[in-house]
Amino acid sequence: MALYALGDLHLSFQSEIKSVAQRESRLWQGHEERFLENCREVMTDDDTIVLVGDHTWGSKLPYCQKDLQYIESLPGRKILLRGNHDHFWDVKKTERLNEMFEGKLHFLQNNYFSYGDYALVGTKGYCFEGPFYVDGSGRITGFDEKEAEHAAMLVERETERLQKSFDAAVADGYQKFIMFLHYPPTSIMEKNSAFTKMAEKYHVGQVVYAHCHGEERFHDSIRGRKRGIRYSLVSGDCLRWKPMKVLP
Ligand SMILES: [Fe+2]
Ligand SMILES: [Fe+2]
Repeated sequence: MALYALGDLHLSFQSEIKSVAQRESRLWQGHEERFLENCREVMTDDDTIVLVGDHTWGSKLPYCQKDLQYIESLPGRKILLRGNHDHFWDVKKTERLNEMFEGKLHFLQNNYFSYGDYALVGTKGYCFEGPFYVDGSGRITGFDEKEAEHAAMLVERETERLQKSFDAAVADGYQKFIMFLHYPPTSIMEKNSAFTKMAEKYHVGQVVYAHCHGEERFHDSIRGRKRGIRYSLVSGDCLRWKPMKVLP
């Protein structure tokens, strides 16, 4: 039994939409087949994989059926987290999605899933992504304060959702946690955030996040160990479409 993670599949089996990288970068060519093969190589049906958001370009459930069927075809238990592009997933209808896909897909939002004696908790998260103002040498000299205010509001809403996830796990007696976010835990201006504080408060073993794809974004946030917590970026292109083992 092992726990894996990867994010940002951005599937488009039913959609013409693709990011520039998806259209132009070699890394993205045939990424669906490569990821499926890589999963089959290392995973068995006893394993669990958490897909850390941005699953599909489909804007509504009927427009991403094939994408979700592809995810169903991966080995093991599949747990999905919401990404900023997952418009098919109305946050208020997570329970409904869990009913619809019962036994096939598991949707992580305001709830938790167990993995051995660990609770897998998570939410989309959020962090301020600009606009930033930079000087001639590329140093940040300021930022759009209105956007930053709006971002702070979204961070607050997401920490409330994450709290619900922790509360549900704690109420069931869990003391060990792995925390999943779609957005990185900190913005490029931060060393700590509401999310890192929550990770520390609950002594989580690991924080696993995605969203940063394209090489220039791989170091936007924390990677490696910080205050006893392991932070991992698992965006698909960063991992070359090989699922990362989170726990043995
Ligand atoms: Fe993405
Ligand atoms: Fe994203």
